[in-house]
Amino acid sequence: MTKDFIQITDFTRDELIETMQLARDMKSGKFTEKPMAGMTVACIFHKASLRTRISFETGIHQLGGSSLYITEKEIELGKRESIHDAAKVLSRYVGLIQIRTFSHEDVENLGKHADVPVVNGLTDLTHPCQIMGDILTIWEHLGRFEDLKIAYLGDGNNITNSWLNLSTMFKLNLAIGTSPETLPDSETLRRAQEAGVSTIGIYHDPKEAVNDADVVYTDVWASMGQKDQAAEKAEMLRKFQVNSELLKVAKKDVKVMHCLPAERGREITDEVMDGPHSIVFDEAENRLHIQKAIMTQLLRNLRKT
Ligand code: CP
Ligand code: NVA
Repeated sequence: MTKDFIQITDFTRDELIETMQLARDMKSGKFTEKPMAGMTVACIFHKASLRTRISFETGIHQLGGSSLYITEKEIELGKRESIHDAAKVLSRYVGLIQIRTFSHEDVENLGKHADVPVVNGLTDLTHPCQIMGDILTIWEHLGRFEDLKIAYLGDGNNITNSWLNLSTMFKLNLAIGTSPETLPDSETLRRAQEAGVSTIGIYHDPKEAVNDADVVYTDVWASMGQKDQAAEKAEMLRKFQVNSELLKVAKKDVKVMHCLPAERGREITDEVMDGPHSIVFDEAENRLHIQKAIMTQLLRNLRKT
């Protein structure tokens, strides 16, 4: 039983499904417990955030807890003192730690040394809460979360890597449309291919990736921490823009997703983002419900150990 949620694969397939069901119960108002009553949660952010920060803090309050927003300036994690020491001290005060930072290893280290659950709110390598919210949104809109073609177009980044991780747990046809220079993490890709659960394809022709897709997904071409590469990435990824012309080869009722924030006019056009296929704001809302469910699952796990 896992203490932390740092990767999608920290949960078993059954736990992932249970978490999604719990999120649905929370969303519908069926779940009314306050598992975080009297608890303080440390929300550490070393990068900007709208959705993750506000949905975590709101979710914590809704579950009866209170949150502390901590930036790099306050605790200087790993600089003023070691991650080990900070993890031990934080565990004496708070009931859970949520962190968004650059290094995935730092988050693993924090999880290893903290005595309380650690939740990954995005690293350079992965963004597991996002993809769990996304698959929940797909389940709501398409009535299933497996046997679907998901076409991811754009930069091979933390979002792509998290889709690859999910594809080792749920049976998907994951078609990644990207340039040869912007492939996802090679180790994550290898593991997803070797898992043999899903069909994984890498395409350098966007139409091939999108052909007959149930879902077309995109993200910014230059992630946080890489904005200096924006022009170069735009050059490499230009043909992977999600626009209405490209959507013609997808399924007729294709759903379009974007984790947001979007750079409208770059990776996605206004027409598509605001059009009838777009479910981007349902997707954003579901961050709240899935994260409440993830935190509740982790606290249940802790009580069982
Ligand atoms: N999608 C997402 O994580 O958004 P923020 O960067 O605003 O948190
Ligand atoms: N890939 C993006 C996701 C933002 C939610 C980034 O890391 O900036």
